Amino acid sequence: MTRAVRELSSGLTARLVEEGALASGGPLTEAFRRVDRGVFVPAFALHEHTARGVRYRLVRGDDPGQGEEWARHVYADETLIIEIAGKPVVDALPGGTGTGRWTSSSTMPSLMAWMLHQLDLDDEPRVLEIGVGSGYNAAILCEVLGSDRVTSVDISPRLARDATRRLFSLGYTPVVASYDGHGGFPDHAPYDRIVSTTAFTHVPPDWIAQVDPGGSILVNIAGGTGGAMLKLRVHGDRTARGRFVPRWAGFMPARSSTPRRRVSVDGEGERGTTALDPATVRGEPAMAFLAQLATTDADTVLRTADTGADFLFMEGADGAWAEIDMDAVNGRHAVVQGGPRRLWHQVEEAHRWWLANDRPDWSAFGATVTPEGQHVWFASPESGPRWPLPCP
Ligand SMILES: C[S@@+](CC[C@H](N)C(=O)[O-])C[C@H]1O[C@@H](n2cnc3c(N)ncnc32)[C@H](O)[C@@H]1O
Repeated sequence: MTRAVRELSSGLTARLVEEGALASGGPLTEAFRRVDRGVFVPAFALHEHTARGVRYRLVRGDDPGQGEEWARHVYADETLIIEIAGKPVVDALPGGTGTGRWTSSSTMPSLMAWMLHQLDLDDEPRVLEIGVGSGYNAAILCEVLGSDRVTSVDISPRLARDATRRLFSLGYTPVVASYDGHGGFPDHAPYDRIVSTTAFTHVPPDWIAQVDPGGSILVNIAGGTGGAMLKLRVHGDRTARGRFVPRWAGFMPARSSTPRRRVSVDGEGERGTTALDPATVRGEPAMAFLAQLATTDADTVLRTADTGADFLFMEGADGAWAEIDMDAVNGRHAVVQGGPRRLWHQVEEAHRWWLANDRPDWSAFGATVTPEGQHVWFASPESGPRWPLPCP
């Protein structure tokens, strides 16, 4: 590390300490000081607003004209996009700008620090990380635990390869593999911790088999409507139980090597109106979390009709769908729903339950995972309402 880079890395760590994301001393803080994020994020894409809409702009550390801008973002508490449509940003944006769906990022350092703290690394656990991405988080884990305690997988072979090269260049030698994290990584099991930096709709059952009793799992359980971070303890009888943690965080959804089948159901649908403002589902994370539980597997997106009107569109894997007008007429929003269940009615029922129970947030909920199935509970695992997680 050159002196200038050491100062930048120390500056980022100092800011994380100042904001309370890191303690003022200790192995984790020292690891953030020692590992240069710049090695793992040589280039990234920023969102740029133009007259023709939003596009990406590439920022490269090896471009002398961009070096200062690159450093300003890399050594800041920012999430940085490193892969678009399965290609590293330098390949995805050959002309320096472009569009597409981003598929990997280097996580915001304060969120990384919080997750690593949640993992409780003091007793030197063997850790499996799902989503190596840039490799920066894996490097911090190696710095704290030693490389032989760290395994990290990514569904993208190119990311796994690039991360391995960068980790090795700094002397870190964890096991890094290209693997679909839905299966954990059996080759190196057992682990004491599994931490996922990508969101899953359920806890992949293989993870429970790969974590030793007493170990834990930290994962963002989310669908396309909402979610939250779940911390589970694994028990000797191959079950796991835990609570959603108070800090809200959302990760990109896990990609899958065997995409879920989604049924498409056409038809006119059933027309009605609702007093529930669909903005509540989009804007209130606690209600989005509950709407996700109530509709199990529904995705939710905001769309604009040819008429220019915005509407919320929900769709379940079974083909159930609902469209809700964002604008109200006389206090009511138009709704059209079709398919085998009425998604918006499920959301309305969840909303009534939420109000009746004093608007709890996700930290009042927990989850139980057994070989027979998985469900989320409210307040206590033994009593109260339950919502099944969409475990295939
Ligand atoms: C937020 S990024 C990871 C950030 C990373 N930990 C870092 O330090 O840069 C999420 C990663 O999860 C990966 N991913 C998505 N679905 C996956 C899956 N099913 N199995 C393994 N990795 C997956 C993505 O390719 C992406 O690199």
